[in-house]
Amino acid sequence: MKNETRFPAISDLAERAQRRVPKFVWEYLDSGTGNEKTRFRNRAALDKIGLMPSILHGESTPDLSTFLLGAKLPLPFGIAPVGMSGLIWPDAEYHLASAARHLCIPYTLSTVATVAPEDIENFIGPNAWFQMYPPHDEKIRQDMLARAQASGFKTLVLTVDVPVASRRERQIRSGLTNPPKLTPRLLAQVAMRPSWAIGIARRGMPHMRMLDAYISKSTENLPVNAHIGYLLRTSPDWEYVKSLRDAWPGHLVVKGILCSKDAQLLQETGIDAIWVSNHAGRQFDAAPASIEVLPEIRQASNLPIIFDSGIEGGLDILRALSSGANFVMLGRAWHYALAALGADGPEHLANMLKADLHANMGQLGARSLDTLPKPFQLK
Ligand SMILES: Cc1cc2nc3c(=O)[nH]c(=O)nc-3n(C[C@H](O)[C@H](O)[C@H](O)COP(=O)(O)O)c2cc1C
Repeated sequence: MKNETRFPAISDLAERAQRRVPKFVWEYLDSGTGNEKTRFRNRAALDKIGLMPSILHGESTPDLSTFLLGAKLPLPFGIAPVGMSGLIWPDAEYHLASAARHLCIPYTLSTVATVAPEDIENFIGPNAWFQMYPPHDEKIRQDMLARAQASGFKTLVLTVDVPVASRRERQIRSGLTNPPKLTPRLLAQVAMRPSWAIGIARRGMPHMRMLDAYISKSTENLPVNAHIGYLLRTSPDWEYVKSLRDAWPGHLVVKGILCSKDAQLLQETGIDAIWVSNHAGRQFDAAPASIEVLPEIRQASNLPIIFDSGIEGGLDILRALSSGANFVMLGRAWHYALAALGADGPEHLANMLKADLHANMGQLGARSLDTLPKPFQLK
């Protein structure tokens, strides 16, 4: 049976992914923080958004293109940064960057990815973004920015919703440490997932490649539960955003915004776009659903808004766009696709999202993304 028939929804990909990766990897990818209320709130709030169907519009193929940060993009969705992607599926960052280049959509490389910017420079397209967890050492920061720029990343994303490490209880229960250490317990989980294990064995245990350059005598003998990524980074403040604005010549996006007041203040710092996100419910279990706060953030700011958290299909993308977003990102879904289908996964997911956008825009009689109706709350 073809992939289109076997895996018509993101949930089908997630189900297969879970069967193909070790338990600790699945828990890393899939879990939220606390009781996962924020994670499920994202789904519940998206489900409440109604869009009125509109009839008798004749034949048309909807135009899915949009403009963002000076570029015309053929699709309204892209790839959010995911740390340690290559632990989730071997060579994940290469597959995702190549798929994004082919599709002409943004791919965001995380500071804590398993490849460094220069490893991937021949795989990225013109819409490659670099996501920064801000180092407190000024020299390291300058060096990171220079490396990202020299490798062809033109947009910088500063993530601000990880001021401290969050606790993910499912992840802790699975035995995963930071950095990942293959204990007998984890090895037993690995032994049950041969395709993942063979792929990883060929490449060696993934680690945060970009940070290799900054491991000094003081950090190299860390206890096993200390994570080099956390030691290097700081909790940024408003001054940090301003200094980053001065230091980075390309587009600057701030990710992890849930409050309209913050959106207003950010606009004054000269950044180019706001990324509304609750990090898929991975950081704070009392946070609102990203989609709940999107309309008031739209009201408060004229900046382009990128949106993520909980998107599970084309209809969710339309819900976010009609609620004020200019562009939508997905994180976990790309990794479910990779773990389910390997290198074919990202293209399969993109085709699924395109088909879903077409089908739902047909119901709305919308020929382009700027003609979507206003959303309303379903009872
Ligand atoms: C396993 C995992 C790792 C992540 N790592 C990062 C990261 O390194 N930097 C970052 O800004 N966001 C990170 N995120 C958050 C994503 O960029 C994005 O905000 C979120 O996954 C979107 O929600 P979705 O997964 O429901 O699409 C991570 C998310 C996941 C699931």
